[in-house]
Amino acid sequence: MRKKLKAVIFDLDGVLTDTASYHYKGWKRLADELNIPFDEKANENLKGIDRMGSLNKILESSKCIYSYEEKLALCDKKNRYYQEYIKGITEKDLLIGVNKVLIDLKEKEIKIGLASVSKNAFSVVEKLMIVDYFDYIADANKILKGKPDPEIFMTCAEGLGVKIEECLGIEDAAAGVTAIKRAGMIAVGIGNKGILQEADVVLESLEAFDINEMIERFF
Ligand code: G6P
Ligand code: MG
Repeated sequence: MRKKLKAVIFDLDGVLTDTASYHYKGWKRLADELNIPFDEKANENLKGIDRMGSLNKILESSKCIYSYEEKLALCDKKNRYYQEYIKGITEKDLLIGVNKVLIDLKEKEIKIGLASVSKNAFSVVEKLMIVDYFDYIADANKILKGKPDPEIFMTCAEGLGVKIEECLGIEDAAAGVTAIKRAGMIAVGIGNKGILQEADVVLESLEAFDINEMIERFF
């Protein structure tokens, strides 16, 4: 029997809105203050990685040793910078194609989930005025293992009440695509084919996402 597409699970940062660039700006500001080299290339490895995990990766290039308490304080500092940058987000900051995809999915009665490990995810989705589209938003505070672990995508499928094989996940980060594939779902990558090699298909943006084509190809 053919499997059926019952849910699409979205990552947030870099998929629905360009907050990935604000995360970068926040980490860059912190790294500069600590005199640690950090650039967009190094940032690519941080995409989809939770806050402490990201800091630990940045500190790999530092000569200093930081205690856990000091690291918590650095995470808080980066988060304050990030919150400053996202203050002015509105529905105008939705990336191209997002609105149409959400409307298409609702029309087709396909469930919509959010799988972001960002503890700021709910507030960003609220600012974007798209909360009502979601049937389930995974709570990043309750996720024990960040991406590339599949936990958040599996939790989301469970929350939506659908089987893993009935889901399609959408991600802009390599770690996120790995998480989707490890969960056993079809993975759509948004961005660079060279970086998102594990994805079943890579699109430049959600503007190129056609739900009928996805169903035909994968379900
Ligand atoms: C997403 C982003 C990461 C970010 C993480 C944690 O996965 O892609 O860049 O570090 O969320 O975000 P938070 O808002 O909790 O610091
Ligand atoms: Mg992302």
